[in-house]
Amino acid sequence: FSNYSQMGSASQNAMNNATVAPSLFYFAPRNIWVLAYQWGGPAFSYRTSTDPTNPNGWSAAQTLFSGSITGSGTGPIDQAVIGDGTNMYLFFAGDNGKIYRASMPIGNFPGSFGSNYTTIMSDTTNNLFEAVQVYKLQGLNKYLMIVEAIG
Ligand SMILES: *[C@@H]1O[C@H](CO)[C@@H](O)[C@H](O)[C@H]1NC(C)=O
Ligand SMILES: *[C@@H]1O[C@H](CO)[C@@H](O)[C@H](O)[C@H]1NC(C)=O
Ligand SMILES: *[C@@H]1O[C@H](CO)[C@@H](O)[C@H](O)[C@H]1NC(C)=O
Repeated sequence: FSNYSQMGSASQNAMNNATVAPSLFYFAPRNIWVLAYQWGGPAFSYRTSTDPTNPNGWSAAQTLFSGSITGSGTGPIDQAVIGDGTNMYLFFAGDNGKIYRASMPIGNFPGSFGSNYTTIMSDTTNNLFEAVQVYKLQGLNKYLMIVEAIG
């Protein structure tokens, strides 16, 4: 749809391939659409497209992150990808009271973050569960993180 007033009547077009916990964004430096998701084989995978109106016009799956975590029944879940002028960052959760972050130079993106990461937050599982999201607040020199707290 071209206008939000049309959203309620927009058609739904299913993809042939499953993408669990998908996040879709336009990556301006490369003029390409990126679809990131979990459990495609590696911890996180991505596909790219120049035409997101075509549900099956996505590239073959590529590895977004190949790392693993300990003390988690799910492994890495719920990717949140965001960039600044220098780096791309991959935030993720593990249903275990921790939030993790991997990073890579923005010039290498879209690409793999590899397997390295830092544990940036540690609390109870009730306080830090999953569904981490990270936004830049326009006009402020700040980022906002939202995390599901199951407790
Ligand atoms: C979007 O739809 C609304 C409601 O129909 C209308 O008032 C508005 O002018 C439309 N905007 C554009 C950019 O077409
Ligand atoms: C994507 O779906 C197509 C059609 O069902 C299938 O042939 C292909 O193996 C799938 N690829 C992946 C990576 O799941
Ligand atoms: C991996 O991350 C740690 C910080 O958690 C850092 O000290 C180390 O240099 C990183 N290794 C690579 C190969 O990036």
